[in-house]
Amino acid sequence: MSLWATKPLSRIMAESEGGEHTLKRTLGAMSLVALGIGAIIGAGLFSLTGIAAAENAGPAIALSFIVAAIGCAFAGLCYSEFSTMIPIAGSAYTYAYATMGEFLAWIIGWDLVLEYAVGAATVSISWSAYIVSLLHDIGINLPPYLVASPWQPVQLPSGELVHGLINLPAVFIIALVSTLLVVGIKESANVNAVMVMIKVAVVIIFIGVGIWFIKGSNYVPFIPENTGTFGEYGWSGILRAAGVIFFAYIGFDAVSTAAQEAKNPQKDMPIGIIGSLLICTVLYVAFAFVMTGLAHYTEFKGAAAPVAVAIAKTPYMWLGSLVKFAIIAGLTSVILVMLLGQSRVFFSMSRDGLLPGVFSEIHPKFRTPWKSNLLLMIFVSLFSAFAPISAVGHMTSIGTLFAFIIVCVGIMIMRKTQPGLPRPFRTPWVPVVPVLGILVNAMMMYGLGWENWMRLFVWLAIGLTIYFLYGRAHSHLARK
Ligand code: ALA
Repeated sequence: MSLWATKPLSRIMAESEGGEHTLKRTLGAMSLVALGIGAIIGAGLFSLTGIAAAENAGPAIALSFIVAAIGCAFAGLCYSEFSTMIPIAGSAYTYAYATMGEFLAWIIGWDLVLEYAVGAATVSISWSAYIVSLLHDIGINLPPYLVASPWQPVQLPSGELVHGLINLPAVFIIALVSTLLVVGIKESANVNAVMVMIKVAVVIIFIGVGIWFIKGSNYVPFIPENTGTFGEYGWSGILRAAGVIFFAYIGFDAVSTAAQEAKNPQKDMPIGIIGSLLICTVLYVAFAFVMTGLAHYTEFKGAAAPVAVAIAKTPYMWLGSLVKFAIIAGLTSVILVMLLGQSRVFFSMSRDGLLPGVFSEIHPKFRTPWKSNLLLMIFVSLFSAFAPISAVGHMTSIGTLFAFIIVCVGIMIMRKTQPGLPRPFRTPWVPVVPVLGILVNAMMMYGLGWENWMRLFVWLAIGLTIYFLYGRAHSHLARK
């Protein structure tokens, strides 16, 4: 069979209906918006805003948030069309299978592991750092070598610097969230909704309180002059910062992996994807504007907790504890939706025969792909326990940008090959929107630098080996 054979849409849809392999359709529009926000607001907003303002954009970081949001919106519109046309758990993987053939579908499916599984591992390492700090605040100190990977130096109470052994809190949160995902999609969505309420409330409180203590002089100059190096302030700095904080927007696309569990995907998918992106963009721009108005951008340089630097400019130090609490809730929901997305993509790949059947076995009572959730728990925990955080964060970004580009390309192909197909949601101004989506996202990908390109290529090479050793021989499409 040709590597480029596509899977007919009629067959994709027929396979998703009925049988023992069906997921449960329980999610409404509000749950989908909450899933999106759940995945979006997290480590990116709270830690990268200060860093990117200090190093790249200055107070114009608010503009960087707008630039990154525009790139995401183009991709989000394309995701919306696809997810109403093909409301299947596989998201970008399934869209690629229908438009560009099995080979590219596999590449995208494998690439999504970077976004979802590696993303969840990255965020669990952040979660661990915050929980350790929160426990320290209340007088509980965990042994330093149990809270960091062997690559990460940790400071003992004596001041001595040693290497960690294993990051146990990160493993703990991955195990907890995986168990919740096994128990049910509705239960997972409910827990997510609570976490989202907490983090959105705290972000709004920060903005509402902080705005009264803004010092106008912190905004002057709003766009600091470029130092002569690309990316250090000036307009190139705004662009570079957009690439850095792009991580903060990752997650709205995860809504599309829940398409097979949505009650009314045709109507609710675009609401979930675009709605969550829109709400977070407004919150992000306001948050960044207030943060750089409270403290001068140079004060965020090298700060371990940039938000705390901004809060120190208000008389309300209790805000600091509140933010820490919100971050922990926020990170928990990011991990939840990322692991949800990963198990749903593997579910689709397994049903197509490209991965072993165990990944699509549904629990008779909970109706979740429980074995997949448990296997992912083991795989992601290993990453969380032993990997260094610096490398994994950028891998998540580059992998996601790559998927966005493929989805934008896919929309144009689908309009040519299947023009008559019902499209409950149509991406406006095709091909302008997808082409701009490709350009803006490729620009951000370029900005991530060659090291991350190399990591992406190595990752894809591993994936291709698995495909030629296993997937190609077991593909259901090839067998039929
Ligand atoms: N957008 C998510 C975060 O910032 C991945 O944590």
